[in-house]
Amino acid sequence: MTTTDSTIPHDAAMGARKVLLQVRDLRVSYGGIQAVKGVDFEVREGELVSLIGSNGAGKTTTMKAITGTLPLAGGEIDYLGASIRGKGAWDLVHQGLAMVPEGRGVFARMTIVENLQMGAYIRNDKAGIAADIERVFTTFPRLKERRDQLAGTMSGGEQQMLAMGRALMCRPRVLLLDEPSMGLSPLMVDKIFEVIADVSRQGMTVLLVEQNASRALQIADRGYVMESGIITMSGGGREMLHDPRVRAAYLGE
Ligand SMILES: Nc1ncnc2c1ncn2[C@@H]1O[C@H](COP(=O)(O)OP(=O)(O)OP(=O)(O)O)[C@@H](O)[C@H]1O
Ligand SMILES: [Mg+2]
Repeated sequence: MTTTDSTIPHDAAMGARKVLLQVRDLRVSYGGIQAVKGVDFEVREGELVSLIGSNGAGKTTTMKAITGTLPLAGGEIDYLGASIRGKGAWDLVHQGLAMVPEGRGVFARMTIVENLQMGAYIRNDKAGIAADIERVFTTFPRLKERRDQLAGTMSGGEQQMLAMGRALMCRPRVLLLDEPSMGLSPLMVDKIFEVIADVSRQGMTVLLVEQNASRALQIADRGYVMESGIITMSGGGREMLHDPRVRAAYLGE
């Protein structure tokens, strides 16, 4: 006998959740050139949504528009039910939008602990911050071992862990990850995806941008494919993973 919960398809359960991020007909330009040409998608509370697509598709540009670091040329982005227009990146971080950028962006000349403390710069609850640093260390034991090492001397994978840990230190509502597996060894890629899945299982809402389509769809509730500035496919993570068009275009089959 199965419980009621486990008989509800994942999609249906997620469908009832509150929409945290709603992107409608988003357009973003660099000078006169449109990089994002009318994109629609949404992220609901507790979901892990993967946005996949090849080089230059417009994934990072979309992330930057969501976090208030690039202006919208058209369309709308609602976060927590209100437009992000006119809000700067700072405002949005305060409202719980945390992004781990492509290339990680750790503070190279600071130690691991100092980087994590920087992640909590919007908070002033000392005890809570200390407790959260310990939680990050539980998630990433490697960081604990090296807590006083300068971030710039760590491996790419370790820096990715630190960048994720630092983003979690501001207790985000939504975690945005831009190509977390880029340039990492297969073993480190495994570890990073394990952690993303873990963080998601603990209830975090995650928008994951990845070129590693297979791994990103394996852990996703839903996925979107972006090509040349538009969304060309969308669906459940598993469903997309088995879609012959996705497999041909992004999984090398
Ligand atoms: N600062 C910029 N100035 C001009 N054009 C840009 C700038 N940044 C990105 N572009 C262009 O916008 C398009 C989308 O770029 P974007 O970085 O969003 O792609 P992406 O999907 O993140 O690619 P990748 O997987 O390689 O990171 C590309 O054609 C890119 O050349
Ligand atoms: Mg990118």
